[in-house]
Amino acid sequence: MNLELTDEQRLISETAREFVDREVVDRARDNDRAEKFDRELASMLGDMGYLGAPVAEAHGGRGLDHVSYGLIVEQIGRGDSAARTVVSVQTSLVCGSIERWGTAEQKQRWLPRLCSGEALGCFGLTEPDTGSDAASLRTRAEPSDGGWVLNGQKMWISLGNFAEVALIFAQTEPGSGPKGLACFLVPTDSAGFSSQEIHGKLGLRASDTASLALDGVEVPEDAMLGGIGDGFKVAMSALDSGRYSVAAGCVGICDGCVASSVSYATERRQFGVPIARFQLVQELIADMIVKRDAARLLVWRAGMLKDEGKPSTIETSIAKLYATESAVECANAAIQVHGGSGYVDDHPVERYLRDARVTTLYEGTSQIQKLIIGRDATGISAFLPYE
Ligand code: CAA
Repeated sequence: MNLELTDEQRLISETAREFVDREVVDRARDNDRAEKFDRELASMLGDMGYLGAPVAEAHGGRGLDHVSYGLIVEQIGRGDSAARTVVSVQTSLVCGSIERWGTAEQKQRWLPRLCSGEALGCFGLTEPDTGSDAASLRTRAEPSDGGWVLNGQKMWISLGNFAEVALIFAQTEPGSGPKGLACFLVPTDSAGFSSQEIHGKLGLRASDTASLALDGVEVPEDAMLGGIGDGFKVAMSALDSGRYSVAAGCVGICDGCVASSVSYATERRQFGVPIARFQLVQELIADMIVKRDAARLLVWRAGMLKDEGKPSTIETSIAKLYATESAVECANAAIQVHGGSGYVDDHPVERYLRDARVTTLYEGTSQIQKLIIGRDATGISAFLPYE
């Protein structure tokens, strides 16, 4: 076993760290305050090759290994989870799905533009009445002359107001559950397609979040990604990568919490000494470091399995569960170290807490991850109603 990064991986991580410190950190607070989706920053992420890092170079990506992708995402997550969401959705959910399931024509049409950041994509799985139970989604796909007609609604869709293409998951045969699902590549300027901004979020305020409506949207036969009945597998294989990316971003939040807390605790003085002098403050910092390192190693394990082409669904769920819960705990503890100063946005820690909170919800709640892990351990599914 070798836990050392290669020289190239170290360089990739260091380059991403410098980019984030130079371009991302200073924008994060202003964008958060203004609830502004920073399209310019998304283009800069594309220019850096961060929107399709593991996608093959032939398709416009950088052809990097998954551990390197995770290292990039960790750094961006340390700087700004809204920017990290752009990277995760675009790279893992959208580009990854097209590369894995797409025809040569679909790859050629979409991947170079998505990897460069010229176009954005979104992942339309969740609906107003369908979250954890993804297979029960109600958006309907009905055959028409030479194609399909889509009707339905999607909810909580990251990048939905800015995307040029949406992966839309729809049911072709009501009552057939996951076996009837199909995924379609839908240009968002199609007639009958509309999006609406969702505001009032606790965190990720600089991330674009949309509800989508599909009202008789017509798409040709070749818009289908995979075949009829492949839709659920497209979604689950996308989430195998998306959850990995969320986990890596949360390692970045944990790391940012440690850095900000160490800096503050060694400068801030009370009772005539730096507060780092107090054992209870050191305990808060030590607990953060343990969580960060454990989360990072779980992410690296999942990444290494992906690079070896081995199954990684369970290890990805373990990493996602642990890293997201740790990010919430670290951010909460970091605010405690900062005291009143941590309650306002002079320091990043209050934003870390607000931004971390959604990560235990989206791309599969912590409870869903536990049920996936528990089913693997026991051989008994605690999901209803399929067993
Ligand atoms: N890769 C490929 N195929 C997979 C797979 C994977 N990781 N996992 C399951 N499948 C296949 C199975 O092999 C099976 O195929 P067969 O019928 O041919 O054998 C089929 O899919 C159905 O499998 P299961 O019935 O076993 O389904 P499951 O139990 O694995 O899934 C669930 C149930 C785990 C609850 C799943 O519905 C789930 O993960 N729910 C959470 C949904 C979720 O994470 N939503 C996030 C929304 S996206 C988002 O948040 C992004 C954003 O923009 C904010």
